[in-house]
Amino acid sequence: MILAIDQGTTGTTVVIYNLQGQFLAKSHNEFSQIYPHPSWVEHDAEEIWQNTLSTIKQVLIKTDTSYHAITCIGITNQRETTVLWDKTTGKPVHNAIVWQCRRSTDICNKIKKSGKSDWIQQKTGLVVDAYFSATKIKWLFENSPEVNTLAEQDKLAFGTIDSWLIWKLTGGQHHVTDHTNASRTMLYNIHDQTWDQELLSYFSLPKSILPTIQNSASCFGKTCKTLFSGNAIPITGVAGDQQSALFGQRCINSGQVKNTYGTGCFMLMYTGNNNSISKNGLLTTIACNEKGQPAYALEGSVFIAGAAIQWLRDQLQLITHASETEHIANSIQDTQGVYFVPAFTGLGAPHWDMDARGAITGLTRGSGKNEIIRATLESIAYQTYDVLTLMQSESGISIKSMHVDGGACNNAFLMQFQADLLNIELVRPENIESTALGAILLAGIGANIWSHNAIPKNIYKVDEIFTTTMQFTQRKKLIRGWNKAIEQVKN
Ligand code: G3P
Repeated sequence: MILAIDQGTTGTTVVIYNLQGQFLAKSHNEFSQIYPHPSWVEHDAEEIWQNTLSTIKQVLIKTDTSYHAITCIGITNQRETTVLWDKTTGKPVHNAIVWQCRRSTDICNKIKKSGKSDWIQQKTGLVVDAYFSATKIKWLFENSPEVNTLAEQDKLAFGTIDSWLIWKLTGGQHHVTDHTNASRTMLYNIHDQTWDQELLSYFSLPKSILPTIQNSASCFGKTCKTLFSGNAIPITGVAGDQQSALFGQRCINSGQVKNTYGTGCFMLMYTGNNNSISKNGLLTTIACNEKGQPAYALEGSVFIAGAAIQWLRDQLQLITHASETEHIANSIQDTQGVYFVPAFTGLGAPHWDMDARGAITGLTRGSGKNEIIRATLESIAYQTYDVLTLMQSESGISIKSMHVDGGACNNAFLMQFQADLLNIELVRPENIESTALGAILLAGIGANIWSHNAIPKNIYKVDEIFTTTMQFTQRKKLIRGWNKAIEQVKN
């Protein structure tokens, strides 16, 4: 069997497949979100580690599987989230700074003022924004004396969550990452496919803190024998969650697109050898080719998607479960002009506004809970519309169909409204956990269980295709209203 860990922003999912490519079981556990200040987001890296271990144990108990039946492990993870730890004790020196955290906005503004944004984008494919790891590490160096002391003593390690989990799983034997995760740090040169010394000097960060970079389908080390009843299980597949979903959706030909509806929404177009840099706010990032080696993708990142539904549930308490939203949205004709822009942590592509904040616009005396709930679902589709429109114009490719996955794509209202707005076909697979599937595939290829051109045929199956039912004029009217709402929240 192959086990994959999908360590996401709000929870950890662990899945098991057999070597014939059949899904066997899944476990999922949420963990704490820490908000020390408005717009700051942290995770406790130790809690993530414990949460991962217990989720692994749970799924094995569920399937009555013992550790020795696990041939290899794949890891996929929330990207950019920054962990610094002491290499000698294995203890984190600060809470992990989450990708959504805006604390390094001032550092980014200084970079922009100094005129270095283009230089950084040309090297990294990334837009200067608090989203990426480099300014988070920089913030920790500027604000934590312990970080500086450990760095001077060569005891400090940096890693994204993949790197942190591999360190823990291998008992501190391996400080490694893969190209997809490295490409989200803003310290990695996407052309040379290695850490960039000039960027490290620019950010005044020591190279010694960085992990070694490997191909996504390769051996990242074996689990420490004390963890899993004496079994040293090889970790043979690693990728950032969005690149893993792209791989799991089998988007390995240029022009193929997937959109994952998770905490945020992340649209990636596989571009193969084409590493051209976007002029209007898309990212150029490292993806995996069919063998799990570095290739390129264009990405449009929307920071808040499913998280807006969680906000309805947890903060406004308008619903008790996310699944209620489908029925409620379908119970009304439209939102009566209400738009919700969930810019809780600024706006990503195509706006890249770190200071924008959320708003509900168009409220009247007639607006109620149902309109707000429907507007929340619609906001996910509008944000995706903005990204797809940009992706078509930047790539010059007219996108006819898009693969969808992630929790919120179970919502049939959202999928239909999305197809209506985009006027393209949306292809939903039977297994919407493409992120975990990508890690299973990479691990299977990395362990030479499957050859890249002979993966089990039944591993990917289409469930439903959504197509538009909306008139052109109606679509235009709705999008005009959305554009107006977006303008109102921009800084
Ligand atoms: O770049 C952030 C992304 O990797 C987070 O994904 O699925 O945890 O929302 P998710």
